[in-house]
Amino acid sequence: MNTARPVLEIENVSFSYGCHPVLEGISLSVQPGESVGITGPNGAGKSTLLKLVVGLLKPASGRIKLFGQPLNEFKEHGRLSYVPQKAGFINSGFPSTVEEVVLAGRISRRGLFRYYNREDRSIAREALGEVGMAEHIHKPIGSLSGGQQQRVFIARALAGHPELLLLDEPTAGMDPENQARFYSLLKDLVVRKGLTLMLVSHDLEAISTIVDRQVCLDRYLCSCCYNLSDSPQGATCRKRLWSA
Ligand SMILES: Nc1ncnc2c1ncn2[C@@H]1O[C@H](COP(=O)(O)OP(=O)(O)O)[C@@H](O)[C@H]1O
Ligand SMILES: [Mg+2]
Repeated sequence: MNTARPVLEIENVSFSYGCHPVLEGISLSVQPGESVGITGPNGAGKSTLLKLVVGLLKPASGRIKLFGQPLNEFKEHGRLSYVPQKAGFINSGFPSTVEEVVLAGRISRRGLFRYYNREDRSIAREALGEVGMAEHIHKPIGSLSGGQQQRVFIARALAGHPELLLLDEPTAGMDPENQARFYSLLKDLVVRKGLTLMLVSHDLEAISTIVDRQVCLDRYLCSCCYNLSDSPQGATCRKRLWSA
């Protein structure tokens, strides 16, 4: 039995946009070093759940704890990094270079009003190397493909030296080959750095090889957890979700 304190505890959380209920009675606990996939159809509330975890939205009811602390008291924001959905859709006129985008990942560690120093630049370069993008460091971010931009945003997340990494549909817009390459890189990073991962995807099969556990979300209920997508529970869940 794992007795370590969970990195994330979601307890009976519900959320509505106005009078439109999206999540109801969600409970989930994530242990240090665990990789959890959040899957479900479009509109299931996956992105909403991540936004609740990082404090961009507030639950209507229920409790969320990060590293043992209630979310409203949590101040150690550098311990987690969040890459939102569609991060890799920057248009070609965007004025920042790849290096500037990745350096921004240091803000959570250094504070807003501090100049970047040599250490920050070296960490940014190292993070870009980790996602195979070091050679693009001086290019405008908008000149890169969607998949390359996505890797730069992962580098930005890594530059903050997080313990918990939250990724929302990181392979959106990638072809299957690049998607497979990206997930293999991600798996390697997670293992090497001992990261805790929360990975949102509508594609249950695609992430089944990189997560330890998948949680299915339908519109209202976090309904089942299982270890392998080809397990009997996984098959039942898949049938229920996709036949709807
Ligand atoms: N800012 C918003 N205002 C109102 N409704 C929203 C907003 N964002 C999402 N929704 C609605 O909430 C539901 C869940 O959205 P979302 O969390 O983005 O789902 P998913 O990421 O699983 O596709 C959808 O019905 C969506 O239309
Ligand atoms: Mg989404």
